[in-house]
This record gives sequence, structure tokens and C-alpha cells, in this order.
Amino acid sequence: MKTRIIHSKAFVGDAAAIIHESALDAIAGRGIFRLSLCGGNTPKPVYAELARQSLPWDKIQITFGDERCVPPDDDDSNYKMVKKALFDAIDIPEGNVFRIRGEMEPEAASLEYEHKLAHVASRFGESLYAHDLLLLGLGEDGHTASIFPGSPALNETRRAVIPATGPKPPPQRITLTFPIINAARHVCFLVNGSGKAAMVDEVVRGNPALPASHVKPASGRLTWLLGS
Ligand code: 6PG
Repeated sequence: MKTRIIHSKAFVGDAAAIIHESALDAIAGRGIFRLSLCGGNTPKPVYAELARQSLPWDKIQITFGDERCVPPDDDDSNYKMVKKALFDAIDIPEGNVFRIRGEMEPEAASLEYEHKLAHVASRFGESLYAHDLLLLGLGEDGHTASIFPGSPALNETRRAVIPATGPKPPPQRITLTFPIINAARHVCFLVNGSGKAAMVDEVVRGNPALPASHVKPASGRLTWLLGS
């Protein structure tokens, strides 16, 4: 695993540029760009910047790293956040956006999403869906996606998508697991603001108690984009 740490003075522009460049590389190489979006507040302006760029959205497949167990029109929904910042401003075919159905019973929604990703993976001859770029945020407690400290999800090695709970409201969530996160060709943490600098250092040092330390793309690249 190759790790790159970028200290950025233009976080939103640099994040959008990483995504844009990854998209053009993937489409040139494989005719499609498979991108996983993270939730929370940090990526909102990045998605809005992406919406202002010209990208071949018909060749881009979007998944979500996690979702809160709420309806898609709930203010806590990651899908709603991305819809407002990005989907409403671009012309992307509906079938290219794989929404986690947070309004469903969590285990059923997890299985449904896992089957959807497995179906697409099989079409690519993959045993596990391989994202070209998978975006992750970092919580103050070292969580990422919806894998929180002490969570059983930390030890999940078989499932790709599972229900999870955490202290960050809303507690009930659905999350990709480390097997599928680490199957990505490139994982990029988006962390903006100095408030998490100490936590980033702890994670990069590999503190196993911190979920984000388990992000180790098996044959991929890991980038930390750190805004000041
Ligand atoms: C979520 C995210 C979560 C988030 C971190 C950072 O659904 O909340 O997936 O992992 O990325 O908590 O959140 P902020 O960007 O809001 O600090």
C-alpha cells in the first residue's frame, strides 16, 4: 500500500481535482469510473465543486460508503446531502447511483446493497466490487464510514455491507466494511480543519483501536488530503 499525505491550502479544489483526475484515468482505462462517496459535512463543498465541473456522468457509477437509517428525504440522510450538493446539479443516469435504502429494516437494506454490489462485481469478473476511488471521512474518535471504535464491524471479514450503530447521531446506520473498502484501487480520506490533526497522526501511526487505521487498500493507494 502506497500512502500519500497532502497538506492542502485549497482543500475543496484539491479534493475535486483528485476525484476528477481519478475519473478520467478510470474511464480512459476501463470505460467506467466507480466512485464511493462519504457522508458528513466535510465533503459537501467538494461535491458542489464537482457539480460545477464537466465530467462524463454517464460513465460514472456512484456508491455510498455508509448511510444513516433514515428516509432519503431526512436531513440526516447522506443521500439527501449528496442529492442537494451534486445530483440535483448534474445529469447522471438514475441507474448510475446506488442508493443505500436507509428507510428499510437495516439488515434487509444491508443485504440488498451487498447483493447489488456483488451483481455488478460479477459482471466485472471481480469477487468483490472494486471501487476506482473510495472517499472516506474521519471522525474525532477515529471512526470512518460508520465503523466506530469497539464496533463488531471492526472484525468483519466476510460481509461487504452490514448494519452498524455508533454514538454519532443518528445511531443506526449501514456501512461498507473493511473488506470492500480495502478492495478499492484508491482510498482517499478527506479531512478538513486542524481539529482532527492529532487523530490523523494517531491513525497514520496505525493505532489499531482506531477504525480508520484498518483502512489499508490491499493493492491500492491511500491518500490523506488534509485541509488546514
Ligand atoms: C457519516 C460519515 C462519517 C463522517 C465522519 C466525519 O455518515 O457521518 O460517513 O464517517 O465522514 O464522521 O464527518 P464530518 O465530515 O462531518 O466531520
